[in-house]
Amino acid sequence: MQTIYLDNAASTRVDPVVVKAMEPYFSEKYGNASNLHHKGREAKEALEWARKIITKRINAKQNEIIFTGSGTEANNLALKGIAFANKDKGKHIITTKIEHDCVLNSCKWLEKQGFSVTYLNVDEEGFVNLEELERAIRADTILVSIIHGNNEIGTIQDIKEIGKICKEHNVYFHTDACQSFTKVPINVKKQNIDLMTLNAHKIHGPKGVGALFIKKGVKIEPILHGGGHEFGLRSSTENVAGIVGFAKAVQLANENHVKYMIKLRDKLIDGVLKIPDVKLNGSREKRLCNNTNFSFKYVEGEAIGALLDAKGICSSTGSACSAKSLEPSHVLLAIGLKPEEAHGSLRLTVSRFTTEQEIDYVLEILPGIIKKLRKISPFAKFISKL
Ligand SMILES: Cc1ncc(COP(=O)(O)O)c(C=O)c1O
Repeated sequence: MQTIYLDNAASTRVDPVVVKAMEPYFSEKYGNASNLHHKGREAKEALEWARKIITKRINAKQNEIIFTGSGTEANNLALKGIAFANKDKGKHIITTKIEHDCVLNSCKWLEKQGFSVTYLNVDEEGFVNLEELERAIRADTILVSIIHGNNEIGTIQDIKEIGKICKEHNVYFHTDACQSFTKVPINVKKQNIDLMTLNAHKIHGPKGVGALFIKKGVKIEPILHGGGHEFGLRSSTENVAGIVGFAKAVQLANENHVKYMIKLRDKLIDGVLKIPDVKLNGSREKRLCNNTNFSFKYVEGEAIGALLDAKGICSSTGSACSAKSLEPSHVLLAIGLKPEEAHGSLRLTVSRFTTEQEIDYVLEILPGIIKKLRKISPFAKFISKL
């Protein structure tokens, strides 16, 4: 059976060019980047090459990113590291109700350590209200952490305006850009970003590699203590092969890929919206180029996903992390969906490897799947009255 992979917000296929770039760092260039001998220097050079590629892409200085073991780790470091380094200034953090679980659960943990957290509401398309954000800032606020491109509904926040507000109030601004990096232009200087989380596996790089941009001068404590790697902020021998793969993936990602994904995304949205009783979640305009998310009335997203899978199509009913949970998605609830609407949701996310024929195939079979499920739905009687 042919696979049609439409779960690229969960993870992506590693580009074969990336695999090739990584290979020597397993077999030949296996040195530890901390060592002074030639094998160590070889690894260190690769590490600094990668740092240069990634910092250039976001307009940062070369010593302003540290590599981590994942996006989750980078988000944990940003939140906990800023909280503990700045607790004398204040113990209040602002975030939103639509963050990735690694941000939300770090915030919940910080609440147990005596910090207080404001979780901002969003509107029905997933946007933060900037006036509400400004009103939430207090004298003891030390950090605002707001996701750039949402992993479930694809909504892109106006991080430039958020950065401006944070700067005016002298509060650090962190953004989780795991989903938006290379898809939406990011300029940390122009957008007033103090900290930003990135990772490799959403952009055709390897899993288990992330990075945290930390603007020069930002006060932050490490959460991993050891040999003082990564400017003393993330001890542990660097994953050189993974980091090289990350930088290669960044080098490969370009504007044409974004345009191509927009074309596929829009075709998918227009096609799926022809099915009766379906709505698009998130914004039509300010949306990640690879993301679609729909709610189908009277059916369960899980059931749609299972029938699509039987045809070789990989989809998702929420974020990958909550795929095992039957709780309705916190993001969909935050944009005002009722639990039953959230349960009827399906996320289809494309990549530059997705073909137009694959989208055509999905559009050909999805209406039949929905019809079939609605026929056996407990709400069937109700539908017939419509
Ligand atoms: C927005 C966002 N932040 C953070 C993460 C976590 O990244 P990682 O899988 O590298 O830990 C993800 C991935 O699921 C994500 O989509």
